[in-house]
Amino acid sequence: METRFKIKRFNPEKDEKSYWGEYDVEVEPTDRVLDGLHLIKWYQDGTLTLRRSCGHGICGSDAMVINGVNRLACKVLIKDLGKSITVEPMRGFRVIKDLVVDMKGFFEKYRSIKPYLITDTPPPEKERLQSPEERERFDGSTKCILCGACTTACPSFWADKEYVGPAAIVQAHRFLMDSRDEGKKVRLEILGDREGVWRCRTIFNCIEACPRDIDVAGAIADVKRAILFNKS
Ligand code: SF4
Ligand code: FES
Repeated sequence: METRFKIKRFNPEKDEKSYWGEYDVEVEPTDRVLDGLHLIKWYQDGTLTLRRSCGHGICGSDAMVINGVNRLACKVLIKDLGKSITVEPMRGFRVIKDLVVDMKGFFEKYRSIKPYLITDTPPPEKERLQSPEERERFDGSTKCILCGACTTACPSFWADKEYVGPAAIVQAHRFLMDSRDEGKKVRLEILGDREGVWRCRTIFNCIEACPRDIDVAGAIADVKRAILFNKS
């Protein structure tokens, strides 16, 4: 089938502003949007710039706005979109070139919530044990691939770029809910800050955007409860 791709293009070295590039591509219906982008890059315009790595929904590097919705290009089948597909870079980040955005600030926020197990007590002789029920509490959050789709779908983030954002909160949730972690106090202080969880207005765009079906809003609610409980 022939599909028309409209791709938002921008090269800061020569373009004053972005423009739509249009490409007709012969694809199989079962091809993914990423396959279509590859066909354009390989056979029509080698200057088209995009990020991708695994090609299978694991690395999170090819999040982009596809037909107006944040998606992973490697997970969307062309047959589900039809003969006209628009592709834009994620919103709210500086565009480096075409579909590649600057995620430095995003990963700084991720690092700010201390995304690792913190322990003060001496290690036991063997490993720190955890029951299946305790593990279950943060199972959903472990599935986050840091693609940024939730944060860049969030109007609170668009309005305030200092907001830590849903992705960093999901990552914090992973450790806050971990029975072995002893860093809750410091993490809750960070998330209780004015740029922390209270910036969330429960708009729920994050849930729709997440390609891993993580209950992002539920994780944010858990963190809000943990802050309130901690203070009480
Ligand atoms: Fe991506 Fe979902 Fe993680 Fe947000 S919570 S960064 S949308 S995987
Ligand atoms: Fe890795 Fe799509 S290329 S998630």
